[in-house]
Amino acid sequence: MAAKPLSEIFAERAVELRKYIFDQPASTFTNNPWALANAIEDFANQVGHMMIFRKSKLDVAREQLLAQQPAPRTIVEFGTFVGKSALAWGAILRDIHGETVPEDVNIYTFDPDAQMVELTREFVKLAGVEDFVHVLQGPGADSLRKLNAEGKVTTVDMAFFDHWEKFYVSDLKLIEELKLWRVGSLAIADNTDFPGAPDYLEYVRAGGSGEPESVRYQTKSFETTGKRGGPSIVEVSTVMALE
Ligand SMILES: C[S@@+](CC[C@H](N)C(=O)[O-])C[C@H]1O[C@@H](n2cnc3c(N)ncnc32)[C@H](O)[C@@H]1O
Repeated sequence: MAAKPLSEIFAERAVELRKYIFDQPASTFTNNPWALANAIEDFANQVGHMMIFRKSKLDVAREQLLAQQPAPRTIVEFGTFVGKSALAWGAILRDIHGETVPEDVNIYTFDPDAQMVELTREFVKLAGVEDFVHVLQGPGADSLRKLNAEGKVTTVDMAFFDHWEKFYVSDLKLIEELKLWRVGSLAIADNTDFPGAPDYLEYVRAGGSGEPESVRYQTKSFETTGKRGGPSIVEVSTVMALE
């Protein structure tokens, strides 16, 4: 019998995860994005085949966000899936700014997959972060262009690349083209070693395009523990200058 396509497995997992979460008392998660993000990770550890941003990696990103000056206010995320990392960004920005975050603190997470977008919207509501965690359906590049044209996103403090690696460089360059970076902004990219984003690594390791009026990056690879216990890299690139 032919193996099931991964997309089918992910769709099934999303249905099972929804049941796992909504079978628990809502009070477990009400106003508590950390509890919901952790429960999603518990579920993923039980069933497998869940391409979530796990705790060991999240700890690296969290440390960067907590140290960022001025403090992060706008995060854009490419690749929502079941909302694990989006909920975690919500929890981190709340830890930084307080439970009622200011109006200009926003997270925008993008995914073309309607099922994942719908599920994440339910989770975001359950965890009480729907006022500032916005889940947008469609390729991230299209959503980001639209948000910028509408004047909703004019600066990005952190961009998280966790979709398909072949899009990492073009989406990073879109942020440059729209002039959304500030000095100190962070580009955080998952799985740059496996499945691998060699063109992205080459670009950020070279410090950017090197062209006049370009963005200069300093980049660092953080080795974390991947889902099978082996090493897995998260690449953190900081905008050093806008030349
Ligand atoms: C690795 S998963 C994201 C995991 C998620 N960050 C988490 O921690 O739960 C990758 C997701 O990227 C989405 N994706 C694919 N192409 C995309 C694009 N062009 N823009 C945004 N998301 C995309 C896929 O549909 C998939 O759900």
